[in-house]
Amino acid sequence: MRYSTAIVGALAFCASEVVAFPAAAIEFAARAEHDASARRDIEAAVAKLQAQRRAPGFNAAEQYVSTHGEYEFVPPNAPNTRNGDQRGPCPGLNAMANHGYLPHNGVATIQQFIDGTYDVFGMGKDLGGFLGIYGALIDGNLQKWSIGGPTPAVPSVLGLLGTPTGLSGSHNKYEGDASPTRPDLYEYGNTYKVIISQFQELFSMQPDPATANYDLSVLTPFRASRFQQSIERNPNFFNAPFAGIAVQPAAYTFIYRFMGNKSAEFPEGVLNQEVLKSFFSITGESGNFVWTEGYERIPENWYKRAIGDEYTIPFFLTDLLAAALEYPQFLNIGGNTGEVNTFTGVDFEDLTRGVFNLATLAEGNNLACFVLQGAIQFLPDSLLGAVGDVGALLSQLNSVTAGALNNLACPKLDKINKDQFAQFPGAKGAY
Ligand code: HEM
Ligand SMILES: *[C@@H]1O[C@H](CO)[C@@H](O)[C@H](O)[C@H]1NC(C)=O
Repeated sequence: MRYSTAIVGALAFCASEVVAFPAAAIEFAARAEHDASARRDIEAAVAKLQAQRRAPGFNAAEQYVSTHGEYEFVPPNAPNTRNGDQRGPCPGLNAMANHGYLPHNGVATIQQFIDGTYDVFGMGKDLGGFLGIYGALIDGNLQKWSIGGPTPAVPSVLGLLGTPTGLSGSHNKYEGDASPTRPDLYEYGNTYKVIISQFQELFSMQPDPATANYDLSVLTPFRASRFQQSIERNPNFFNAPFAGIAVQPAAYTFIYRFMGNKSAEFPEGVLNQEVLKSFFSITGESGNFVWTEGYERIPENWYKRAIGDEYTIPFFLTDLLAAALEYPQFLNIGGNTGEVNTFTGVDFEDLTRGVFNLATLAEGNNLACFVLQGAIQFLPDSLLGAVGDVGALLSQLNSVTAGALNNLACPKLDKINKDQFAQFPGAKGAY
């Protein structure tokens, strides 16, 4: 398949960016709340991680993203068009479909996801490949998938059970709890409709329009707040092994890494209030915000990531680790047990059959190893053992992570024990 070469090339180039963490980082983080010197150690470790990246540079012509001509904004299910356009929990994909960078009906092939996310946002082709293939396996029909709900445009195929659900229907598999602006499924009954109070909370963290910048120093504490809200408000909160540990951080870091407007002055990007509102389809003034479903827009005169500075899997893992250093609770797989404030973490050693444990998860490359291997091991059993087309796509997924894994010398995680999930009502159905 065409995309495999692009993926392998991207990995060879960037896998060395993954960096090790200081020993016992989690204990550090746990102490840091009360201990200023531990706090400084964490900040230094995070700063060191970030400093290892070279400055991205800026080239206006290459980074400008057109919103004109064939890329003009057209909302879903607009008057005088066919109905049935799909939009869902991901504002980035919704905006791409509204501007013709993905098919307007919200259904795309793996290759279209890889190309579109690269062209509009500068997502690394390794990450685009991984996410695109994962979607085809988990919510699609091996070829393509819907960014919203099920649709006749994604008919089921042999080898997969049931009708493909689309991204909106992939709770605990792809979509998860404690999202930035989207609700917890078992709290609100849907996975994709913006909760204005959640958007407002984020917005209000940078109240001055002249200086507002929703970067990771804003988004990571916001994630901690949202995580705590799920514990306090959703009796069925479940921090799932893949949707919680790997996708939840992406839902936060993507906001700054992708939506930020890059410039010569700010090559890493600035994400101001207007750009944030545009990508999240929010209008009106603070205190009276309105969300219009499916109207996510790429702003006029907006610039993507620099060429050569793509947001790759290793880059993403660095951000994931930095957030976990500051808030080790993000690594707790587990959930509430049917009442609020009953969060219980699973025994990590038991979960991974002795390969990893929580105390050393942030040491060395353990976390990267767990995330990369766990992403595959936590797929439904029906897919894992499969042969034929499913098996072929699964090996594609494996090859996307193989380059990064080779560099890390990981202890091998080839079996997991899902028994402990039975105690979490919010995990029902997913495993
Ligand atoms: C093929 C690529 C992609 C896939 C498969 C994907 C998938 C997802 C999924 C499953 C969610 C729901 C996560 C949750 O429950 O919290 C999500 C949310 C999100 N995605 Fe994407 N995404 C992709 C690309 C992008 C891009 C390019 C952006 C660029 C800005 C983006 C930005 C976001 C944001 C900000 C959220 C959180 C929304 C919220 O709750 O406020 N994603 N995405
Ligand atoms: C992005 O930054 C450039 C350079 O500062 C600016 O001219 C442009 O208006 C900005 N775009 C948006 C959408 O804010």
